[in-house]
Amino acid sequence: MPELDASNPPALVILTGAGISKESGLDTFRDADGIWARVRIEDVATPEAFARDPERVHAFYNARRRGLCGAGIAPNPGHRALARLEQDWPGEFLLVTQNIDDLHERAGSAKLVHMHGELLKARCERCDAVHRHEGDLSAATACPGCAGRGGIRPHVVWFGEMPFEMERIDAALRRCGLFVSIGTSGNVYPAAGFVQQALLSRAHTVELNLEPSEGASLFRERHYGPASEIVPAFVERLLRRTR
Ligand code: APR
Repeated sequence: MPELDASNPPALVILTGAGISKESGLDTFRDADGIWARVRIEDVATPEAFARDPERVHAFYNARRRGLCGAGIAPNPGHRALARLEQDWPGEFLLVTQNIDDLHERAGSAKLVHMHGELLKARCERCDAVHRHEGDLSAATACPGCAGRGGIRPHVVWFGEMPFEMERIDAALRRCGLFVSIGTSGNVYPAAGFVQQALLSRAHTVELNLEPSEGASLFRERHYGPASEIVPAFVERLLRRTR
C-alpha cells in the first residue's frame, strides 16, 4: 500500500461479491457447492426464463428469500468491518455490492449500491413501482402500487439486463484513489471490469478473496483467506494509516 496522506485521503471504492456472505451461511455461485452447480442460469436468471416459466423463476427466488430471512443468517465480521470503515474513513467512500442479500445494511452500511438489485424488493412491470417484499412472490401477487396482477418480479438484475446505478459507479471509479475488491470471482461484467477503470484513475488496487480471482493479476495488492478474517485485518491496517 503506497503512502497515505491522512490530510487528503483517497476516495475509496469497495466492490463485494458473494464470497463476503459465504460465512454468513449464503451460497456463492461458482464454488463447487455454488448455486450455478445446482440450477442453470438460463432457467432462472434471464428475462427469457421469466417469460417462459415465471413460477419457476419465482420459486428460485422465493427459496433464496426464505433462506435469507431464515434463522441464523446474519452479517459476519467482514460485513461489520466494512460498516466500520464507512464510519471512520475520512475521505469519500462508496460500497458497491453485486450481492442481493441485505447483510451489508444489517451490518450498518449506508453508502451502498446494490448494482444487481435486492432480493427483499419486488418490482411491478406494469407501473415500475418497487416495494420491499419479504414473503413469497407469484404471478398472482398484486402490485401494492397499481393493484395489477401478473406483473410482479423480483427486483434483481438478470443476465442480459443493465445493472443499476452504473453512472454513479462510473463517476466514483473515475475519482477513486483506492479500489478494494472483496469476495468476487471476477467472472461477471461490468463489475469484473471495475479494477481496470480504477487503474485508469491511477488508483491503488487491492483484492481480498479466498483464492485468486480471474482478474487477480490486475491487483497491486492481494490478500487471500476467509473474508471474516482478512477483511477486518485489512480495515484495521488501513484505518491505522489515517490516524
Ligand atoms: N471469503 C472470501 N471469499 C470467498 C469465501 C470466503 N469465505 N468463500 C468463497 N469466496 C470467493 C470465491 O473464491 C469466489 O472467488 O468468493 C468468490 C465468489 O465468486 P462467485 O460465486 O462467482 O460470486 P460473484 O463473484 O459474487 O458472482 C458475481 O454473478 O451469477 C452472478 O449475479 C450473480 O452477483 C453475482 C455475479
